[in-house]
Amino acid sequence: MATKDINTADTAHEIRTIDEVVDVIASTAPEIRTGLPGRRVAAEEENPSGETQMAADVFADDLLCERIGALEGVGEYASEERPESIDVGNGSLSVALDPLDGSSNLKPNNTMGTIFAVYDGPLPAHGRDLVAAGYVLYGPVMTMIVARDGTVNEYVVYDDSSYELVREDITLPEEGTVYGFGGRVPDWTDDFEAFAREVEQDASRKLRYGGSMIGDVNQILTYGGIFSYPTLQSAPEGKLRVQFEGYPIGYVIETAGGATSDGTKSLLDVDKDELHARTPLYIGNTDLVTELESALD
Ligand code: F6P
Ligand code: MG
Repeated sequence: MATKDINTADTAHEIRTIDEVVDVIASTAPEIRTGLPGRRVAAEEENPSGETQMAADVFADDLLCERIGALEGVGEYASEERPESIDVGNGSLSVALDPLDGSSNLKPNNTMGTIFAVYDGPLPAHGRDLVAAGYVLYGPVMTMIVARDGTVNEYVVYDDSSYELVREDITLPEEGTVYGFGGRVPDWTDDFEAFAREVEQDASRKLRYGGSMIGDVNQILTYGGIFSYPTLQSAPEGKLRVQFEGYPIGYVIETAGGATSDGTKSLLDVDKDELHARTPLYIGNTDLVTELESALD
């Protein structure tokens, strides 16, 4: 879990580009949401991780690729939905997205999100190259979390694409009260199952699990506790992708004073050089993530 300082943008040019990326994410979110009703069906292709793509995944990716790719300061764009990163100009920053996280929630009409990561360097990048990260949450209210400059802020995003700061300098509550663990229980490792049973025993904690990582992570950012998509017996690297999910969520949670782990070290220190590589993911209050690491040891 050991973590170093969070990296931040230091040139005026980078700061302006991050502003622009955040503006594009916020201004595109209402269009993504409005475009969902007719796109709750499978697309023809699978994504590079072998998952069925929904028409909405492809729609969100195309919209964001076009707009983020047009920004002068962005040099590369990548997403969960395309096999390779694409060269979009001469800018020094790269943007990696999960355009629609949790899209299996589209049919039952539950929470989903758009996750973004801004790296200072080419893709695939390292967690320590992140200079900003965040996500839009398509909940009853459309909100956007942005981690940059050592701070996590929450905005409400309106249908006219404007957005308003509603919570500043968010930190995880000291006493975590919720937990959520992904993957099929019989597929968990014995050590992880023993840890999960311990967590459940505490009467002050409740299960909160929705099947969209971003919704589940936002529970932790709001109420504190622990979320994981763990190592599975059938999938030692878990399910979530390092560049598009592990690093940006690691950056958000650690900037908010929480802890993250792949089982042994901070998510930001995971070393994987393949664009669609996966990682087990454990995030939450430091005491719980420390206990988790000891349990898996
Ligand atoms: O991005 C992958 C994802 O949709 C996450 O949002 C979510 O946590 C996970 O898959 C759920 O996967 P499954 O339903 O296969 O356990
Ligand atoms: Mg996802």
